[in-house]
Amino acid sequence: MDRILTLASLVQCASAQAGDNATARVRDKLRYVDPLIGTSNGGNVFAGASLPYGMAKAVADTNSGSNQGGFTTDGSNITGFSSMHDSGTGGSPSLGLFPLFPFASCANDTIDGCTFPKKSRSVSFTNESVKATPGYFALQLQTGVTAEMTAAQHTSLFRFSWPSGNAARPVIILDLTDLSDSRQDNASISVDAGSGRMTGEARFNPSFGQGNYVAYFCADFRGGSIRDNGIFVNSRGSADVKDLTISRSINGYPLPGGAFIRFTDSTPVLARVGLSFISSEQACQLAESEIPNFDFNGTQSTAVDIWRQKMSPIDVSTRGVNNSALTNFYSGIYRTMINPQNYTGVNPVVDESTIYFDSYYCIWDLFRSHTPFLTIFDTPAVVQMVEGLLTLYKVQGWLPDCHMSLNKGYTQGGSNADVIMSDAYLKIKKSNIDWSLVYEAVQKDAEEEPYDWCCEGRGGLDSWKALNYIPVQDFDYKGFGTMTRSISRTLEYSYNDFCISQIAGGLGNQGDKEKYQRTSEYWSNLFKADQTSLLLNSTTDTGFVGFFQPKYLNQTWGFQDPLTCSNIDTGDSVCSLQNTAGETFESSIWEYSFYVPHDQARLIAAFGGPRTFVRRLDYLHDQKITYIGNEPAFLTVFQYHYAGRPALSAKRAHFYVPTFFSPTNGGLPGNDDSGTMGAFLAFTMMGLNPVPGQDVYLITPPFFESVSITSPVTGKKATIRNVGFDPSYQSIYIQRATLNGRPYTKNWIDHSFFLEGKELVLYLGRNESSWGTHTRDLPPSLSEYQF
Ligand SMILES: *[C@@H]1O[C@H](CO)[C@@H](O)[C@H](O)[C@H]1NC(C)=O
Ligand SMILES: *[C@@H]1O[C@H](CO)[C@@H](O)[C@H](O)[C@H]1NC(C)=O
Ligand SMILES: *[C@@H]1O[C@H](CO)[C@@H](O)[C@H](O)[C@H]1NC(C)=O
Ligand SMILES: *[C@@H]1O[C@H](CO)[C@@H](O)[C@H](O)[C@H]1NC(C)=O
Ligand SMILES: *[C@@H]1O[C@H](CO)[C@@H](O)[C@H](O)[C@H]1NC(C)=O
Ligand SMILES: *[C@@H]1O[C@H](CO)[C@@H](O)[C@H](O)[C@H]1NC(C)=O
Ligand SMILES: *[C@@H]1O[C@H](CO)[C@@H](O)[C@H](O)[C@H]1NC(C)=O
Ligand SMILES: *[C@@H]1O[C@H](CO)[C@@H](O)[C@H](O)[C@H]1NC(C)=O
Ligand SMILES: *[C@@H]1O[C@H](CO)[C@@H](O)[C@H](O)[C@H]1NC(C)=O
Ligand SMILES: *[C@@H]1O[C@H](CO)[C@@H](O)[C@H](O)[C@H]1NC(C)=O
Ligand SMILES: *[C@@H]1O[C@H](CO)[C@@H](O)[C@H](O)[C@H]1NC(C)=O
Repeated sequence: MDRILTLASLVQCASAQAGDNATARVRDKLRYVDPLIGTSNGGNVFAGASLPYGMAKAVADTNSGSNQGGFTTDGSNITGFSSMHDSGTGGSPSLGLFPLFPFASCANDTIDGCTFPKKSRSVSFTNESVKATPGYFALQLQTGVTAEMTAAQHTSLFRFSWPSGNAARPVIILDLTDLSDSRQDNASISVDAGSGRMTGEARFNPSFGQGNYVAYFCADFRGGSIRDNGIFVNSRGSADVKDLTISRSINGYPLPGGAFIRFTDSTPVLARVGLSFISSEQACQLAESEIPNFDFNGTQSTAVDIWRQKMSPIDVSTRGVNNSALTNFYSGIYRTMINPQNYTGVNPVVDESTIYFDSYYCIWDLFRSHTPFLTIFDTPAVVQMVEGLLTLYKVQGWLPDCHMSLNKGYTQGGSNADVIMSDAYLKIKKSNIDWSLVYEAVQKDAEEEPYDWCCEGRGGLDSWKALNYIPVQDFDYKGFGTMTRSISRTLEYSYNDFCISQIAGGLGNQGDKEKYQRTSEYWSNLFKADQTSLLLNSTTDTGFVGFFQPKYLNQTWGFQDPLTCSNIDTGDSVCSLQNTAGETFESSIWEYSFYVPHDQARLIAAFGGPRTFVRRLDYLHDQKITYIGNEPAFLTVFQYHYAGRPALSAKRAHFYVPTFFSPTNGGLPGNDDSGTMGAFLAFTMMGLNPVPGQDVYLITPPFFESVSITSPVTGKKATIRNVGFDPSYQSIYIQRATLNGRPYTKNWIDHSFFLEGKELVLYLGRNESSWGTHTRDLPPSLSEYQF
């Protein structure tokens, strides 16, 4: 007894010392959040003021070709300050609704002396004036007008300050035209003559989906005395007219139009914009209750407090690391909480009390890192996001693959909500989620083909069931969608089925578990064992044999060059959702070759064993066939683990992070995709990468001496600690490890690590060791490892 007690106190003593080093902690994590990361070079990040998962997202919009998130730092001009955005998406700009635009004065002090249309009113801003911190965004226009903004859940608050001198005759317009010019017919706006309040609504198109939606606003102004107000169309306005309904028009659309308000003096003006998808009355109520007194400082302080609270679960030791590492890390985490957006109570789809989230934009991205990250870090939010997916299932009959602005978005591959569901089920099954409804929803994906599978479910299910793969040039008269991507769809459907089998197993449905495990092996039907791969336009063989290939309905092989749509394909291959695209979505057969996350053992055998598998992964990375700026690359960084070479995953992680991620405006290698890239970065720096859909995290050394995460579910603190931490990252190879003080040789851990607050200690060295390399150390795989 005594001896044990003594040992225990020794252990405590040791961890207290470790604690001492680890107390070199970040006091204010928000200091290391730079919302401007990803505002150029295609990151398309939303850089403005928002609450976590907030609907109001205020920022300056630019006229850049890359303004999907509103603001960019690529030398473009400002066209306005709008209140709703998505973050990190591709396609057309999303939302960007109800922009305000401030004029210090109009020529000759007449309303027609101002230029209202978005295309011609744009103005540059001074680079040094841009300030972006969580809950706050500001810049100064070349006209001398300063615009600051902050946000509550459904309300933006702007403060416009005018250039000094008595020349200021301020005018603010509210434009009904959205960022992507999608506004439809009959938008309307009314101005209240006395108060200047503007209310109205307009119909718009979603940025990557079908249908349309109506959004409502309520704008109020506080500042100097009101001189007058009215409406404008094109560049002509009148204070005599207070109501406008405007057409989209057949050319030059959408026709510029909106309302204006003028002030008699240069007192700063506060503009409060409430938002709703139900009515402008609700928008007004929300604005009045969320920001009753136009208190800019108070609204910003509240936002800062909420963000500070949200960032609290993760601490890292700062010893030896510089601001770049900390800023990369905490900014990546911050970006995971911009989308999806919480529209509970403000949507016309379900009643006020039903959880409704939107901007799952897109699940094809999110499932890989974003949602798994939040499962650890903000579990209650993930529970609600899953409930939000079930809300959509109940209303639309299907789980979405992508969803934004109340509308269905386009499916890119499989029914990947199945992966999110499996991931959540395995990690947080104790929550109140209705898992039998979850199972019904995912099983429907596997069994029933939607008539229109553009935006939900899967296509080609008759062929899938009869031939056990998705054929190229399929015959499908039951459901309709883009008949491309037969290889990547086969691979994703296979993995989706594996995820379904795990939920079935957990719910005690052994028959379904086995059935979906069987169908999860259908990927192997497109594996052509004798297929070779030559470098593009060359007779040089890459030296590897065995690649996926398209197969026709008559079960004969088609052909797609394994490097088509890879990062080194510089030709004019069509690789997205176009009718003319090939059999792999946004990537090559080379990269998709590794996408069998549930049966790496069988894949490794198919590739010719672990050595060839490793050589092939090396070739993929070294020849730059893969590009870390798109999500299918994520898992390939860490798949060395499955071949018993976790050290090589660590080596790749330490190549990709410094080379492709930096805390600068252009510091992301591709679209952030609603924080998916941010979550990948955070996971990689934390030293644990999820195999999404499974209860598996692959272990690599954190980029910090220690990382600790407090579970929002249990309140327990899990810690990963590097012994022999080397801030120059020469020592990045695990020599041995302990878990809760006992030797640990597996190269992966499960979610109980976080829930039970365990301690993983990694002893680092400069060379690869035998740690985590034996078959018994490898992550789970459906088949037995053959080595
Ligand atoms: C704490 O940091 C010091 C250097 O500041 C180092 O020598 C020592 O090994 C560290 N202790 C632990 C437990 O990591
Ligand atoms: C402001 O920054 C942008 C993007 O870096 C650059 O293109 C532009 O030239 C800068 N403007 C000035 C005045 O320095
Ligand atoms: C301003 O007034 C001057 C003199 O009347 C006139 O020439 C000019 O066109 C006016 N400009 C605008 C924009 O109305
Ligand atoms: C940006 O605005 C400035 C005036 O502020 C103008 O001179 C310039 O042409 C504009 N550039 C673009 C790309 O709109
Ligand atoms: C717009 O309003 C006009 C005039 O009231 C009406 O004829 C038309 O049908 C409306 N368009 C739509 C799309 O509602
Ligand atoms: C609010 O105002 C106070 C006093 O001017 C200031 O100390 C504080 O930093 C402000 N808060 C924010 C979030 O700007
Ligand atoms: C979403 O909004 C609802 C209604 O305001 C609120 O009850 C819920 O806590 C919010 N969820 C999150 C994750 O912020
Ligand atoms: C199988 O179908 C493909 C595509 O229609 C065709 O090119 C090929 O000749 C067929 N092969 C056989 C053996 O029927
Ligand atoms: C292959 O050849 C095509 C056609 O000449 C060309 O467009 C493409 O850039 C070449 N690709 C590579 C990788 O050299
Ligand atoms: C921060 O540290 C990393 C790793 O040691 C180093 O590569 C990088 O250059 C440093 N950055 C700065 C700004 O000092
Ligand atoms: C690490 O490996 C290199 C060769 O790869 C060898 O020269 C060196 O001595 C090794 N270092 C240690 C500490 O084993």
